[in-house]
Amino acid sequence: MTTRLAIVGAMHEEIAALRPCLDGARTERRAGREFHLGRLDGHDVILVRCGIGKVAAATTTAVLLDAFDASALVFTGVAGGLGEGVRVGDIVVASALLQHDMNAEPLFPRWEVPLTGRARFDADAGWSARLVQASHALAAANLHAHGAAIHHGLVVSGDRFVATRAESDQLRAALSDALAVEMEGAAVAQVCHDFGRPFGIVRTISDRADDAAHGDFQRFVCDVAAPYSRDIVRAALAL
Ligand code: ADE
Repeated sequence: MTTRLAIVGAMHEEIAALRPCLDGARTERRAGREFHLGRLDGHDVILVRCGIGKVAAATTTAVLLDAFDASALVFTGVAGGLGEGVRVGDIVVASALLQHDMNAEPLFPRWEVPLTGRARFDADAGWSARLVQASHALAAANLHAHGAAIHHGLVVSGDRFVATRAESDQLRAALSDALAVEMEGAAVAQVCHDFGRPFGIVRTISDRADDAAHGDFQRFVCDVAAPYSRDIVRAALAL
């Protein structure tokens, strides 16, 4: 079986710096997305921008795993910090993912994905360890991530950009171990789980999901997200 790693980001800025690093790339269009197939530092990869939100992430992940037979998936991008001590510029590697806006009560417990029996979907331990190690290496080398702390734990996803303190307080109160909030990871996790394929998710913290989130997010995504994503993914592939 060939192994081909899928590398996915939600926005252009999250994958832009990786695109020029692909050797021998060709592009295929499916479901309105451009899938770039090529070699990254000697590894077969497929790079794609999935779009924002859980449905965009789920569609793209299903195409990657089925049509392109990706053997594993790494998702890279930005997130809002929720956990105490999770600051702008820090890096969060997901150990598990949960949809914070899933609620089929009273039919199923809060957050449980109906008929799966679970609310939390674990990331692959091997890929997560590689992403943590790669993030530490980046921070130690002072490459972009100078002074960044590396966190490993629960990441929550929902179809909402969390941009008020009131909303992030609610999330913290309900899900006290959540480190970060974003809009795709739990969908990727559920689809990878359905296909039985390993995945890892790494997010750099662009904002604190509070009233300043919008401005912080714009600045961070333009200046930092692209090189962070590129260097963490390449360092993880080299391990
Ligand atoms: N991605 C980056 N920041 C975010 C936030 N505050 N809410 C949801 N997704 C995000």
